[in-house]
Amino acid sequence: MHSARYDYGQNGKHERINFLSNNEKVPPKQKKGIVVGVIVALLVLAAVAGVLIWLFVFKANSGTTLSSRRSPRTIVFSGHMKLADVPFDQKLEDISSKEFTDLASNLEDVIGECIKKDSFLAKYYNTSVVTAFSHGVIGFYWSKFDVPGSDLEMVPEFSEERMLDALETAVQGSRSIMSPRSLKISEVTAALTDPRMARNPRSVECFYVLEAEEGKIKTFASPGYPTGYTSKSRCQWQIRASEKNSILVDFPIFYIEDYCPDDFVYIYDSLSSDEYQAITQKCGQRPPSNPLAVASSGNFMLINFIIDSDVQRPGFEAQYTAIPLSNVTTCGGILMETEGVFTSPLYPRFYPPAVDCKWTIKVAPGSKVRVKFTMFRMKEPRVDIHVCHKDYVEVMGTKYCGEMTSLALTSNNNVLEVNFHSDKSYTDKGFSAEYSAYDPADPCPGKFACASGICIAKERKCDGWNDCGDMSDEIKCKCDKEQFPCDNGLCKPRMWVCDHVNDCGDGSDEKRCSCEENEWRCGNGVCLPQDVVCDNKQDCIDGSDEASCKSSPGICSEFSFICNNNECVNKVNAECDRVNDCSDNSDEAGCDCGTRPYKLNRIVGGQNAELGEWPWQVSLHFMTNGHVCGASIISDKWLLSASHCFVTNDPANHVASNWQTYSGMQAQYKQDGVQHRAVKTIISHPNYDHMTFDYDIALLELSDPLQFTNTIQPICLPSASHVFPAGTSCWVTGWGAQREGGQVSMMLQKASVKIINDTVCDMVTEGQVTSRMLCSGFLAGGVDACQGDSGGPLVCFEESGKWFQVGIVSWGEGCARRNKPGVYTRITKLRDWVQKETGI
Ligand code: ARG
Repeated sequence: MHSARYDYGQNGKHERINFLSNNEKVPPKQKKGIVVGVIVALLVLAAVAGVLIWLFVFKANSGTTLSSRRSPRTIVFSGHMKLADVPFDQKLEDISSKEFTDLASNLEDVIGECIKKDSFLAKYYNTSVVTAFSHGVIGFYWSKFDVPGSDLEMVPEFSEERMLDALETAVQGSRSIMSPRSLKISEVTAALTDPRMARNPRSVECFYVLEAEEGKIKTFASPGYPTGYTSKSRCQWQIRASEKNSILVDFPIFYIEDYCPDDFVYIYDSLSSDEYQAITQKCGQRPPSNPLAVASSGNFMLINFIIDSDVQRPGFEAQYTAIPLSNVTTCGGILMETEGVFTSPLYPRFYPPAVDCKWTIKVAPGSKVRVKFTMFRMKEPRVDIHVCHKDYVEVMGTKYCGEMTSLALTSNNNVLEVNFHSDKSYTDKGFSAEYSAYDPADPCPGKFACASGICIAKERKCDGWNDCGDMSDEIKCKCDKEQFPCDNGLCKPRMWVCDHVNDCGDGSDEKRCSCEENEWRCGNGVCLPQDVVCDNKQDCIDGSDEASCKSSPGICSEFSFICNNNECVNKVNAECDRVNDCSDNSDEAGCDCGTRPYKLNRIVGGQNAELGEWPWQVSLHFMTNGHVCGASIISDKWLLSASHCFVTNDPANHVASNWQTYSGMQAQYKQDGVQHRAVKTIISHPNYDHMTFDYDIALLELSDPLQFTNTIQPICLPSASHVFPAGTSCWVTGWGAQREGGQVSMMLQKASVKIINDTVCDMVTEGQVTSRMLCSGFLAGGVDACQGDSGGPLVCFEESGKWFQVGIVSWGEGCARRNKPGVYTRITKLRDWVQKETGI
């Protein structure tokens, strides 16, 4: 990051940067054309003067001027300076002491005098406030400038360089400053800061000084917590600890508005709001599974709480304590076991700023080292992840930063060095890594060795999923019976063939999908001779060969699509198939649904969903519990979910205001592109039975409509007559547990499941299914929805090019057990109820 600082101290901690002097900035003059230039300039000046006179003299009298319509701006610089000959006195840490007040006002005068020497800054200067002193002696300050609306074009002139130039007069000691006590200043920093964070500790409103102590955990909370904060809140906490300590702050509960420019918490590794020493800025709600927890690199920390929106949220609750600084900065070492785990300092808490660690992994000669990062998050604003010029992990000459889902590396010999670097500003969760020694001749005993060096279970080779992360487990496969051999040598589950997703990567699984010309394609994809159609015998399992025989209006059956004008269309799945079947075209109305704008390729495999892959998926958060249920978008104002998420023993579950909805979400901890809406009403089906889970359906009305985007789209609801034949491959998605008894997932998960025949479903569930339910999954087990997926959608892709929601995740015996498929609410049976309640 660009850093503008002067450093006159001896510790060499700050970079010294030379700025261009004014002379250097002027380009060499050219004599040619000077005369012409002068004349042109005079003419331009005259014209400008004319316009200005008109604007200010005539226009001013006749009403509003341009300038009076522009609102004034406040500019604030924050930073610190080192006071070379002031001895440190403990009383300086107490803002109510006379020592503090005297030195602060002395330093404020010095700063003011310096600023006044720059005629530009002097013109707009308002005030300077010294907010704290710490060992060193370091004084923390901010200076404020007011720019009237008429001078807004001057705002870019307020540069950090200019401010530092002004303060340099104090540093150079050429003091003509008549201050009561002379101060020798040796280091200065200045950073442009959000004026909302400039607080005067001497005006007591929402300003706190806290003392962190070793072995003691103390707490503080945002104002109004947990009922809710008020708009225009401005609070600041200065936390201090004794020397040679680091401060740890955890936020077990963190729930503020989503829109960061208005509402945020900004934490600094300093006692001034200096961007160059920011630890992090956060807004939104954090699930308990991913709490915010930070650490300082020294014995102080500053926390700002800024609220501007009118939306009321609970706020935060924080715990703080101190630990010896050596616990924070001593990291790295020599690792000589055959396997082990190492992490960034303080993991899973944010690592502290300004630390360097080096791990040397040394295994037996002849062996090699493999390192797999199970978590890697070192993201900073304005950092190019190809360069990693700020915080990074360096292995074998390559720097890694940003966020990585799979990073595995192997050494060239028996020693591997891993370096970790964090600079002075912005920190993140860091990393956790597993290392192990391996024999290059047999790198994965009993397992399969990926090209990247990691080992995976043998069964995972050639199973159609990219388990290695580099596809090396999916090439050169001999496909078994259950698998489809792609033209490029990959094997994919047969059920992925002709599902409109290019699973092979070369399109070969989607190539030969339609039936021959003289054949009829049943709803489940089976091709039969054309003459089975309308022979008064059901040949296709789904009866599709007979369903379209009498398309004359008036003849209605259970399988007919009923048009708005009550005509019947006897054709399988007539709605939204891009063919006008009803004379009033109502079968093609309301078909703006079930499409995903993002182009996706499932070839990368794994089970994490890609961004925008399931744009109708919604995460429902309950009070401060984080994600608890799923839902789907059926219109900009309505979501579909499961009744059992809301009708429980706890009446709080049925209170709309206890729920928050997040649309467009992929990772639970990411806010980008996510639209957050409150719930206005919850309508659960009146016949919902909590014993049998019958009628497990609910509608949520949103407080404000959603804006559809690439990652936020409604799903199509099937009409009551829509058929989803047994055997169809559909998809279930959610943040539910990845195994029975597990915790909810951070990343949205997807699983391909098959619609199971009703007779089989009835058998395996021992008669527990009603006609409002359907089974989907695999009788062999292994793939299923699980706890936390409830309320989420089961969707199928239709030939017509649209996705339809067939079911709502409802229940199951355990998860992914053999002969225990997932049970879903059957939407076709409840379609009319949805229509009645919402008009959709
Ligand atoms: N009832 C569960 C929930 O609340 C969902 C169960 C789905 N189970 C299954 N095996 N498909 O999240």
